[in-house]
Amino acid sequence: MNYEKKWVWITGASSGIGKQFALDYASIGANLVLSARNAVALNELKAILETQVKVIVQPLDLANHESLPKIVADTIRQCGNVQLLINCGGISQRALANETHIDVDKKLMAINYLGTIYLSKLLIPHFIKQNSGHFAVITSLVGKFGSPLRTSYAASKHALHGFFESLRAELHTNNIKVTLICPGYIRTNISVNALTGTGQQQNKMDNAQANGMSVEVFSKKAVKAINSGKKEVYIGGKEVLMVYFRRYIPSLYHKIIKTVNVT
Ligand SMILES: NC(=O)c1ccc[n+]([C@@H]2O[C@H](COP(=O)([O-])OP(=O)(O)OC[C@H]3O[C@@H](n4cnc5c(N)ncnc54)[C@H](OP(=O)(O)O)[C@@H]3O)[C@@H](O)[C@H]2O)c1
Repeated sequence: MNYEKKWVWITGASSGIGKQFALDYASIGANLVLSARNAVALNELKAILETQVKVIVQPLDLANHESLPKIVADTIRQCGNVQLLINCGGISQRALANETHIDVDKKLMAINYLGTIYLSKLLIPHFIKQNSGHFAVITSLVGKFGSPLRTSYAASKHALHGFFESLRAELHTNNIKVTLICPGYIRTNISVNALTGTGQQQNKMDNAQANGMSVEVFSKKAVKAINSGKKEVYIGGKEVLMVYFRRYIPSLYHKIIKTVNVT
């Protein structure tokens, strides 16, 4: 798919992976809708990109589900046709299940799962009407297997796989695509922003993230996967092997996951 002059809507565009997607899609001539909570960061990015392409800033909070119908209607009104929604906004967890308050479990599901699927569901009638559209969803390798300190985070990402894999099967006759992208360790602030058991930010960069793949390299691979209509991809370092261990040699996965240093 060639996205030149097409509208691409990116959530999580204020930092990390989503911000890099915005830079990369602008470089291939796509018009952009930038979403996240931090309107200041989105407007700074807009100022950089609007010399190349059209840019709309559409601040949103994925946890505020009631606000989403108006935001989707307003975005469609401004763009005319949205061709690709990249669901990238999300938040992680760094706490044992036994030490995670239920409100934190709810928050992880409200943002990562419910906010993401609701935004996407609101766009389905628009995609059906134009008989084309593409949902890209940034899940995680822990959307494919479990990992300590990330119980509800992993659950929220597994849930996205269940939802979007089913959605793909429902909408293929409408020419609507779904690409599930599972990052491994990517060097962003995801661990700094991750929630502790009491819902505070961890405020610490994990070694795994600090030594992870650069966001530029990750984004290039992910953009290639989206633009070629891939159904599911795993992008990262050697941690990607865990997906295959879990699938083909589960005993090995069960042995490793008990000992792996996940911070
Ligand atoms: N980096 C990794 O190693 C890694 C690995 C696996 C999966 N991922 C996934 O990749 C995606 C992007 O994360 P990142 O690594 O780029 O981390 P990041 O730099 O922390 O970015 C997270 C993005 O999500 C947005 N966000 C958080 N809460 C939100 C809310 N309530 N409503 C709307 N937007 C919200 C943030 O913007 P605001 O704060 O402005 O709202 C920010 O733009 C996430 O879904 C994450 O789970 C990352």
